Amino acid sequence: MSNEFQDRNLPGIDEGQASDESILKTHARLCREPIGASPVFFFTCLALLTVTTFSWFYVRRYMAEYDSQTYLHERTEIALYQDWMDRPRGPIEYDYFAIGQNLYASMQCVGCHMAEGEGKPGEFPPLTASEYVIHEDPALPTKILLSGLVGPITVSGNEYNGNMAAYGPALKDHEIAGLVTFIRQSWGNEASGVTAEDVAAVRADIGDRAQWTADELQSYFE
Ligand code: HEC
Repeated sequence: MSNEFQDRNLPGIDEGQASDESILKTHARLCREPIGASPVFFFTCLALLTVTTFSWFYVRRYMAEYDSQTYLHERTEIALYQDWMDRPRGPIEYDYFAIGQNLYASMQCVGCHMAEGEGKPGEFPPLTASEYVIHEDPALPTKILLSGLVGPITVSGNEYNGNMAAYGPALKDHEIAGLVTFIRQSWGNEASGVTAEDVAAVRADIGDRAQWTADELQSYFE
């Protein structure tokens, strides 16, 4: 039987077959074992060192979030906030004129009633010196803004027959109050302003209703 072990010089499998040559070769192979620190040991140390260094920086960077000082600081802030929340305060003070001035542009009133409230002849009635705007009872323009206006109307002696949408559903009380205040106090108009509470009262009074007609508002001029 041919001996494959002998060919491959594998000792220990059949010592009887081992030649001097195969024993020397085996020794030579064994001697190739590294002397001193192995590269595996070296790279393991390097990897550990890298991980340790990274962790150290990482923990230093994010540790603050677990720092008791942070919580003490937050507790102070929460206490201050609580104080502020518990403070008695009056009603919110709106700058109605400024609110109305902004909305006059952003709600496109300006597109129909124009920059100086002069309107467009035959199409859009003026707001300047309009008896509807500067009426002594501010509920009148408030009603028009809340529920809109449609059909024939005479403003400052000129006739119109148009259609203006209701702004009540889209705007809050303080916004309607802003618009009414703004148009009653701009372009030479010098009528009283209104507040969100005034508008809320009118809104509650008229409820959810269809657009006004000039006829329905006629009582304001009698
Ligand atoms: C699409 C055009 C248009 C827009 C936008 C519009 N209006 Fe009018 N407005 C009209 C028309 C038309 C009338 C008259 C309706 C009629 O003929 O019955 C009117 C009537 C009025 C009136 C009563 C009549 C008068 O001239 O005094 C007031 C007040 C008024 N609008 C204010 C406003 C305000 C404030 C805004 C913005 C929130 C606004 N309108 C947005 C077209 C518009």
